[in-house]
Amino acid sequence: MTDDPSRLVLVASNRGPVSFSFAPDGSLAARRGGGGLVSGLMPGLAAVAADGGVLWLCAALSDADRVAARLGERAHGAPGEAPVRMLDIPQDTFAAAYNGIANSVLWFVHHLLFDTPVKPRFDAAFRRDWAAYVAYNQAFADALAEESVTGTRVLVQDYHLALAPRMLRDLRPGIRIAHFEHTPWAPPDYYRLLPDDIAAAVLDGMLGADHLGFHSQRWAAAFLDCCEAVLGARGVRISRSGTGGEVSYRGRVTGVAAHPLGVDAGALRARGQEADVRTAAAVLSGPVGERQVIVRIDRTELSKNILRGLAAYRELLATRPQWRGQVVHLALAYPSRSGLAEYRAYTERVHDLAREINAEFGTDDWDPLILDLKDDYPRSLAACGLADVMIVNPIRDGMNLVAQEGPILSERGCALVLSREAGAASLIGDSALLVNPYDVSATAEALHAGLCMAAGERQRRSAAVTAAASAQAPQRWLADQLAALS
Ligand code: F6P
Repeated sequence: MTDDPSRLVLVASNRGPVSFSFAPDGSLAARRGGGGLVSGLMPGLAAVAADGGVLWLCAALSDADRVAARLGERAHGAPGEAPVRMLDIPQDTFAAAYNGIANSVLWFVHHLLFDTPVKPRFDAAFRRDWAAYVAYNQAFADALAEESVTGTRVLVQDYHLALAPRMLRDLRPGIRIAHFEHTPWAPPDYYRLLPDDIAAAVLDGMLGADHLGFHSQRWAAAFLDCCEAVLGARGVRISRSGTGGEVSYRGRVTGVAAHPLGVDAGALRARGQEADVRTAAAVLSGPVGERQVIVRIDRTELSKNILRGLAAYRELLATRPQWRGQVVHLALAYPSRSGLAEYRAYTERVHDLAREINAEFGTDDWDPLILDLKDDYPRSLAACGLADVMIVNPIRDGMNLVAQEGPILSERGCALVLSREAGAASLIGDSALLVNPYDVSATAEALHAGLCMAAGERQRRSAAVTAAASAQAPQRWLADQLAALS
């Protein structure tokens, strides 16, 4: 690490790379935090940490995190990893910003999830939550401003922090700011469900950055379309290029580009060889036996489209009886956002449908579907290793790393049934069996095609996915964004 403070890189995200818990003696124990954002950023940050230093700012999510934040603890992960500063944002402010706005409004907008006859409803309660979202973003901007000097580069992550770039710019005009959006971006007609002032405020907040990144060109283009539709009357100027473009607004120019996040295939395969994964594979192999395996791995998340995926499996068994007794579907869906009623209800429906499928088709010696809702990373890797077919069928997804990880880890090579609405579809393209995620019958047919696919063809396609993922490995993904800030 150099002594030059202007080489410092600050990262800001809601969920950080460590989380604290209380040990039995009441002391604080730090462990590595989960989530796709963290695993995407970590590999690239190690090199940056060695070069100029990194500090990662995130929200305190649990009581133990809050205690750590108040003690001013700067937790470290493995040597060379970024130290972390947690922000102790008042709990009700955090809850209203995270549950009320980030996950119930912005997430729903970008994933097209609203049941529009009923929701959204922008009323006084929404305005209270919005005030909390503003305060939450301001807390990040203030902390980032405290930590930065002229020349510091700041990497702001995701829709939780859409306002922070502008707020930080106002506090520290001389620093370089990038914002990366890990979700898709809504098309203008859907984005404009938001109240007009809020639609403009989100874009304005992001345009405080020097550079905006998205996982796919499609999401970058949708962002530019929204700028045109919402800020057109306010003098925005947009120029488009192959992979993004530039937005001139309020006297500054912001670059917009696609930076698809890939996977470090070598590191992932090495992790897949570790003892805990081998043990998990042995446990999973028992009920599978010699049968083919269809695997899905998700957060229990509305946008992941688990219900239609299971319905497609049910239709496969109903319409193609030759697969009964010949295939097992491993559906691993770890818990998520249980603070929201929609997510709790969705999880129940996933359970119910799984029970129905097993009751309808199961026999004494065959469970057609194994549904497990525990968060168990080694077991997820093991399941990928066993896959003959992976199904990744989100309604919409920024990228979806599992679509890359499954084929990379599958021991025999797997067929990938992939939603054309996932960012991964742009990266992987024809190597997958692309489906319309709403079309259950077409998804059932794609599962059939995947199960019928010859071994050599599965291997060829999995190798192509591995090559595409490796070309965009996290180290390069991060380096490209830092280069765009230079
Ligand atoms: O896809 C956006 C994202 O922020 C991911 O980076 C992350 O894995 C996921 O959502 C998790 O969300 P949460 O932090 O709400 O569990």
